[in-house]
Amino acid sequence: MEWLPVRPVVQAPMAGGGSTPALVAAVADAGGLGFLAAGYVTAARMRSDVEATRALTDRPFGVNVFLPAPPPADADAVAGYRERLRPVAARLGAEPGVPRGRDDDWAAKLDELLADPPAVVSFTFGRPAPEVVAALRAAGAAVVITVTSAAEARRCPDADALCVQGVEAGGHQGTFTDRGLTGKPLRKLLKEVRAGTDQPLLAAGGIGTDRDVADVLALGAQAAQIGTGFLRCAESGAGAVHKAALADPRFTATALTRAFSGRPARALVNRFVTEHTEAAPAAYPDVHFVTSPLRRAAAAQGDPHDLNLWAGTAWRHATTAPAAEIVAALTP
Ligand SMILES: Cc1cc2nc3c(=O)[nH]c(=O)nc-3n(C[C@H](O)[C@H](O)[C@H](O)COP(=O)(O)O)c2cc1C
Repeated sequence: MEWLPVRPVVQAPMAGGGSTPALVAAVADAGGLGFLAAGYVTAARMRSDVEATRALTDRPFGVNVFLPAPPPADADAVAGYRERLRPVAARLGAEPGVPRGRDDDWAAKLDELLADPPAVVSFTFGRPAPEVVAALRAAGAAVVITVTSAAEARRCPDADALCVQGVEAGGHQGTFTDRGLTGKPLRKLLKEVRAGTDQPLLAAGGIGTDRDVADVLALGAQAAQIGTGFLRCAESGAGAVHKAALADPRFTATALTRAFSGRPARALVNRFVTEHTEAAPAAYPDVHFVTSPLRRAAAAQGDPHDLNLWAGTAWRHATTAPAAEIVAALTP
């Protein structure tokens, strides 16, 4: 497993701009493993991020891809939610978006990754077909699949490693199908998955300190995967409003919500989460497209109350230290 990092610290892929080439390279050079996020970007943008990262480091790194979304959910429910958000949109001077493509440029991204693979390719929101896993491995990439239950883990015997994601994780739960605003605590889940497989495991969700990392290593993980802990560092591409909110004492809790994207994701509890979580339909990525112009406007206006402030339960540990220092501090 030569792609496993020297230090047991993996920087999570963070779609939406968080995991920049600079962040991935800084983590790699510090002895960790960094992931670029290909979610929500075109295959061409993924390629340019890979090239930019290679220009910054010779160390291995990974690229994370979203599985295509399932067939459309209830269109009336999406339309109803769109109407519900009109007053928010009006306040922000924006128009709710309309649902677009569902496959996130899947085929073009796979073609790119097969033609010129990074050291690791990880998947979220499902398991790719066995032929895809086999082709990537034959091309020289290690394949990691995100799982959130022992049952999902059992469906991935062909992966080089599993990313075991607990309910504490910031951002989306990588469940194969939407199973509601619930999930398993990481330590419990890790024990269950470890009992069923010898595959290397990356443990993700709510890891904020070197003691947390030591805990998951003791439970059989090969490394800890951390997202929120890197969001505030200089190399992170997270927006200024998001970075500031993570240090804002007005935010006192996180919660799982479908309000922003239609799939359960953990965010700081702000006005949008409070007002719309109950009404939001299970309709990913339709809801993502509906709220996208609102989120863009909120970010531009410096408004943290209508923004998706993805954060894991250990968000208070996120610091503005350089990424290399964060990797060192998280190493037991
Ligand atoms: C801002 C943000 C964006 C994320 N985007 C992705 C993504 O694109 N792909 C993915 O597999 N996981 C994504 N995640 C989840 C991480 O992979 C990981 O499970 C999570 O960050 C771990 O929990 P923590 O945030 O408490 O450290 C994201 C997390 C955050 C905080």
